[in-house]
Amino acid sequence: MEANKHNLKGVVLAGGLGSRLYPLTRVTNKHLLPIYDRPMIFYPIQALVNAGISDILVVTGGQSAGEFLRLLENGSPFGLKQIHLAYQEGGNKGIADALRLAEPFAAGSPICVILGDNIIENNICEAVHSFSKQPNGAHVILKQVEDPERFGCPEFKNGQILKIEEKPKQPKSEYAVTGIYLYGADVFQKVERLTPSWRGELEITDVNNMYVAEGTLSHSVLDGWWTDAGTFDSLLLAWNLVAESGANKMTNLQSSDSSTRVSR
Ligand code: DAU
Repeated sequence: MEANKHNLKGVVLAGGLGSRLYPLTRVTNKHLLPIYDRPMIFYPIQALVNAGISDILVVTGGQSAGEFLRLLENGSPFGLKQIHLAYQEGGNKGIADALRLAEPFAAGSPICVILGDNIIENNICEAVHSFSKQPNGAHVILKQVEDPERFGCPEFKNGQILKIEEKPKQPKSEYAVTGIYLYGADVFQKVERLTPSWRGELEITDVNNMYVAEGTLSHSVLDGWWTDAGTFDSLLLAWNLVAESGANKMTNLQSSDSSTRVSR
């Protein structure tokens, strides 16, 4: 499989405070909240597994971190033999701060990073395939959206990304940078060079712009629907999209207490 050929490892970032979902997230981690028939964290993990990635780290944090171990066990809900966990201290220090914790796990391999609140209809196989042919740099997955001001938003020139702006007041395109990124092992050196943004976070958009500056950031556009689930509106949207699409195509997912496949 492509991901294995590439020795690609997977990283799910599920730290942060989830403060836009208070009070739902006051006593639990956002990624443990349900989306239709399973916890939010199951969707990004399954997206990696569906792309042929079986070596996976989940970075989480806060007071509910221990619940991830109980929920994910050793990866058995996804047919994995093992799953790794890391702990982000200090709440909302940023997506790139959570990513920093994946350096020992990556151990020089390229990684596919997915934010723990990102949910997709189809799969990311095409992006993984295209990144496997790229000699260096990074790859971001885009999606056309109606509200690009809510996301990282690319500006294009001659079909290439010229710059990504984080939550721009006046977006330069109709695209969002989804929370799915492919990086070479050099990403950790870039993270080390970051300084906190105006909101006090280490921003993944700043990392991606470093690749833009080097001319090594490629992109693709995702097929099928995509949403994050970090606000009440997007959580409701995610729930409805998943329910309407027949609880997606998680064919590998097994029930948590037996090896029986969940039927849908
Ligand atoms: O969903 C896509 C968007 O995600 C991108 O378009 C943006 O460029 C990117 O910055 C991000 O924006 P959000 O405002 O949605 O990020 P949020 O703070 O909601 O964090 C998204 C996930 O990242 C969250 O579910 C868990 C992880 N995270 C976040 C923070 C702040 C961490 O693991 N640790 C953190 O400290």
